[in-house]
Amino acid sequence: MRVIVVHGGAGAADAEREARRRAGCLEAARRGWAILRQGGDAVEAVVEAVTALEDDPEFNAGLGAVLTRDGQIQLDAAVMRGWDRAAGAVAWVARTRNPVRLARLLLDRETVLMVGPPADALAAEAGLPQVDPTALITPRQRERLATFLASRRVEEGGTVGAVARDGSGGVAAATSTGGRLGQRYGRVGDTPVIGASTYADQRGAASATGTGEAFIRAVAAFRAVSALDHTSPDDAATAALAAVTEVGGRGGLIVVNARGEFGVAFTTGQMVHAWVREGEEGTGA
Ligand code: GLY
Repeated sequence: MRVIVVHGGAGAADAEREARRRAGCLEAARRGWAILRQGGDAVEAVVEAVTALEDDPEFNAGLGAVLTRDGQIQLDAAVMRGWDRAAGAVAWVARTRNPVRLARLLLDRETVLMVGPPADALAAEAGLPQVDPTALITPRQRERLATFLASRRVEEGGTVGAVARDGSGGVAAATSTGGRLGQRYGRVGDTPVIGASTYADQRGAASATGTGEAFIRAVAAFRAVSALDHTSPDDAATAALAAVTEVGGRGGLIVVNARGEFGVAFTTGQMVHAWVREGEEGTGA
């Protein structure tokens, strides 16, 4: 069964923001679904969905990403293809409008992970749209950084991701983020670390959001997909999150198996998400 599931980050949001995030997630899932329905593969579907979320300033990815402590944009993204375990990831990019498209480019190259200005340069060479980093900064994120610097209270949430199963039985996962609000410039979290918050193989695919360091230490996305050997996607996501909790983290995971069944779990107050499959669509938080 073809299906696409997206998440808009684990964390908390007021009712108005939650409604906007649900709408953004559903729109992204519909865009990915349109590709699946036309016979496109799971990779193209998750990249399309995550591109939509990167372009939506409601989410912490691409336009509207959180800022580092010194007010800079620092973007990470990853994509993994289940049928051949090809993976691509980028960290610390700032000029590439859609980092998930740059990560997608790496799927067909030898290099799995690229960082910093050389990664942006590769995107430019490949014709991916480039912007001045300040064009990705929204007034809301400037305000949030000011609040963070004044109070040290770190708000969570907003990393985006998608998993899909296509009509041929292939699965894929993609994740994109601006990292943590007020992080030290140069800090890299879980999003571009394959196996931590993005993973796919012939058994299924997972994308995660939350406390990056804990997801890396728990190898959470790989753990969730591995659990599909003996359990449902819901239980696989829950088991992976238990491992994240053990190392002091919180967050959420979306998981799809090779049959197109999916699971959603989170240990934060909310994780806005949406899904589309034949004859059905929905949102949750
Ligand atoms: N989960 C996003 C980050 O920690 O960078």
